[in-house]
Amino acid sequence: MRSEIIALLRQRGDYVSGQELCGHFGVSRTAVWKAVGQLKKEGYRIEAVQNKGYRLLPEDEIFGQHELESRMDTEWAGHPVIFYEELSSTNLQAKLDAEKGAQQGTLIVADMQTAGRGRRGRTWSSPPGTNAYFTLILKPDFAVELASMVTLVMGLAAAEGIRKNCGVEAGIKWPNDIVVNGKKICGILAEMSVERDFIHYIVTGVGINVGCQDFAPEIADTATSLYRECGHKVDRAKLVADVMKCFERCYGQFRQEGGLGSLKERYNSLLVNKGREVRVLTPGAEFQGISQGINDAGELLVERSDGSVTNIYAGEVSVRGIYGYV
Ligand code: BTN
Repeated sequence: MRSEIIALLRQRGDYVSGQELCGHFGVSRTAVWKAVGQLKKEGYRIEAVQNKGYRLLPEDEIFGQHELESRMDTEWAGHPVIFYEELSSTNLQAKLDAEKGAQQGTLIVADMQTAGRGRRGRTWSSPPGTNAYFTLILKPDFAVELASMVTLVMGLAAAEGIRKNCGVEAGIKWPNDIVVNGKKICGILAEMSVERDFIHYIVTGVGINVGCQDFAPEIADTATSLYRECGHKVDRAKLVADVMKCFERCYGQFRQEGGLGSLKERYNSLLVNKGREVRVLTPGAEFQGISQGINDAGELLVERSDGSVTNIYAGEVSVRGIYGYV
């Protein structure tokens, strides 16, 4: 009931009478009063005025269970949401939960990670109180061949969610780095459990640099945050909810069309290196060419100087601009 009270007070933006709250939730005045007391302890500023009711006052960002629940505006993605102050990795927790039977749509969120993981064995810097780290559990019944595309669907949703939330021109660096002004703002790590032709689960982890201002020397030139790019604080719970909303829509379309379908055009329209010269680094070789965007399978098409086109499959490959990261 606490998250619903917050959602209702926020939506109203004015006093809501105790009587209305009691009627809305079918509980006693004492139960409402107790819930409001607990919310105050969590840091919410709720004003109670006799004969008027309760009113939510603007507060500094609260990032926790009830705030996330109160912001979630989806049918299934982000239900339930489970918040932790600290985890080793939200992907790891999501995998454990998925093994134990967690339902599709379960979202694991942490304020900090002690062992945040990135693609290709890298670590993901995850300090407390500033960024967003979350992992969504999916249990799809589609063919294994489609599984690798889910990470691109989340990439598109993250870019669109970030744009919607704070208006920055977020683009995608294939396969799924989200970049703003040529620097990385968000990374995605999808992991799955597959047995022959059956997908047990896919967990898709998203890390967004929201408020951090200082980066480790090795990424200082290539990383940025929403705070740096927008110049103002961004509410993490609202941002996570916006990404979930976009993901639910994109994934619904992906399921309906049985593949990337029309999402491909949207993805390609946000691809920062489309039509540009890129350098493709594979474990054994390196070559340059012009990025032409993704195909229906989510592979990046790169045209070499001799006119031949090579399909790049994400795996261990890295694609960079010839003059730097993008
Ligand atoms: C990358 O670009 O290398 C991918 C980074 C993915 C980081 C996120 S943070 C939430 C989730 N938990 C993890 O341990 N990793 C992902």
